[in-house]
Amino acid sequence: MKLIIAGSTGYVATEIIRQAISNPAITSIIGLARRETAVPANAGANASKLKSVICKDFNNYSEDVKKELAGANACIWTIAVGIGKVKDFPFEHVRKTCLDYVVNGLETICPLGAKPFRFLYISGSNVTRDQTKKPLFMRDYTLLRGEVENRVLAYAEKSNGDMLPCIAKPGLIRKPGQTTLSGGIGPWILMTVLGVPSVELVHISATLIDQAVNGIEKEALLCEDMTRIGSKILADQETSL
Ligand SMILES: NC(=O)c1ccc[n+]([C@@H]2O[C@H](COP(=O)([O-])OP(=O)(O)OC[C@H]3O[C@@H](n4cnc5c(N)ncnc54)[C@H](OP(=O)(O)O)[C@@H]3O)[C@@H](O)[C@H]2O)c1
Repeated sequence: MKLIIAGSTGYVATEIIRQAISNPAITSIIGLARRETAVPANAGANASKLKSVICKDFNNYSEDVKKELAGANACIWTIAVGIGKVKDFPFEHVRKTCLDYVVNGLETICPLGAKPFRFLYISGSNVTRDQTKKPLFMRDYTLLRGEVENRVLAYAEKSNGDMLPCIAKPGLIRKPGQTTLSGGIGPWILMTVLGVPSVELVHISATLIDQAVNGIEKEALLCEDMTRIGSKILADQETSL
């Protein structure tokens, strides 16, 4: 199968690519980003499956980029301004990156793909779909990301089964071996005081690849789902070695 990873230069995408390269069911990986996508460290022998495709403007895909995306079976979308970087940009930039790029990505990428096309979008555990709510923490951003989830689901609804959505809702995404305390006081406060759930980077990555390849278990995946699915996949891979 052919898998597109949008935002392929990022933290989560790099681990997804590393795992996808060694997955025999995936024959082609398109790393879609605004700059060159490097082959991840420890990618193994099949790194030639990865093709870096640069998109200069995610509101306007060139014909060359569209050609590279055509015929894919699934897309894992990771492009966003993450919660920790929101304050570094004007909100219009955050809105364009988090919402407009996803909406345009859906409208551009899904019709070029195989049917049904699986679209896996990474959101966040605190994201609120109900736009009448008034979240206490980062209200505008939390509602914006909820609006994106609504748009992904609305696109799927309108597609009559041509696009199948999956929305991952991680809290903190922990690096391999990172405990709740090793990320410093910020993550500790979030996780223990505010009750933000966490998932390991390897588990969210394994889960999203699995759902892209084998089918979507449910429309929204929480940290506990991704820990369950991801840890089983990795344990099965260990025993088959
Ligand atoms: N990391 C976490 O702990 C965490 C927790 C919960 C949810 N999430 C969500 O998971 C997703 C992926 O997170 P991540 O940590 O992997 O993010 P990341 O490392 O910041 O990567 C984001 C990707 O989006 C691209 N991007 C950002 N702004 C862009 C723009 N204006 N135009 C084009 N591309 C742009 C980045 O490109 P460049 O590399 O060129 O900047 C990169 O490829 C996000 O939706 C995030 O909110 C992450």
